[in-house]
Amino acid sequence: MPLPFKSQLPNLDGIYAALFSAAEIIYAELKKGAGLKFATSSNESGDDQIELDVIADEAFFDALRRDGNVRYVVSEERPGLNRISDGRYSVALDPLDGSKSALVGIPSGAIFGVFENADVAGDFHGRNIVSGGFFVFGMNLEAYFADGDKVYKGIFNQDTSTWKVLPIEGGLPSADVLAINGQNQMVWDTWLQEHYADLLDTRNGTARPHNMRWYASMVSDMKRMVLQGGLFVYPRANTRGYEEGKLRLVYEAIPMSFLIAAMGGASTDGDQSLLDVPVASLHQKTPVFIGEKSKIERVEAAKRKHS
Ligand code: F6P
Repeated sequence: MPLPFKSQLPNLDGIYAALFSAAEIIYAELKKGAGLKFATSSNESGDDQIELDVIADEAFFDALRRDGNVRYVVSEERPGLNRISDGRYSVALDPLDGSKSALVGIPSGAIFGVFENADVAGDFHGRNIVSGGFFVFGMNLEAYFADGDKVYKGIFNQDTSTWKVLPIEGGLPSADVLAINGQNQMVWDTWLQEHYADLLDTRNGTARPHNMRWYASMVSDMKRMVLQGGLFVYPRANTRGYEEGKLRLVYEAIPMSFLIAAMGGASTDGDQSLLDVPVASLHQKTPVFIGEKSKIERVEAAKRKHS
């Protein structure tokens, strides 16, 4: 069945069709319980892979390589730029986000960003992204994405094997919810330790204390953000391996920031919007703060006050 969605951008419909059909394949594998064990490999970024990571990467790659508008595919699971055609668009993917959480039944998903006129790593920059979002592999197969400045939700009907894609109206909701893994807090930068304490202060601060939620699956935490609002954080820490945080700029931070910006939210690495951070390499990590504009402004102000 053709995808019941028409992009406002030229020649992008085939790319959406490829992404959505790959997501259907991965979801079907996940529901069978396929690939839910550690593989003997690790990916480009040095993370241990589960077998479904590899299945997901191949499903996206196979679908995208048939579209003549795809110039390059970049994946968390592959080194470098993979040339497909002379097309105008390049697609960056985290083919299976939250895979460790998938092992215990927490919804995982996939993140995608479509970039225009990209030829080198530095072109996979927030100013060149034209579409970005994610799939959730949970109770249902869902998609949340921004096509240019318009935001949509897709839901897959498993009885009829058809998608329904509807606009999300009304902008980013608001909620005092903080999604963060507090594990490294003893080695966070001082300004963040103080800001974190401030956000959670249950005494008589001016703002309501934030409630905490952490799925350890970015797509699940961002789904809650899209539906309810809040602040998502994966900071840097002064410990080996976390000097620039954990999440990847090109295929995690930029697509999510693009979607939330289209809803009226914002993002920062602490100093500047994640959509303005220069890209030096495809797999580069970045500290990530994404959420409601006022919460991002408070993050940047807290950091500025310390410097
Ligand atoms: O990118 C991988 C990822 O699984 C994200 O989906 C998630 O937000 C994060 O890592 C969880 O990290 P941690 O296991 O350190 O909480």
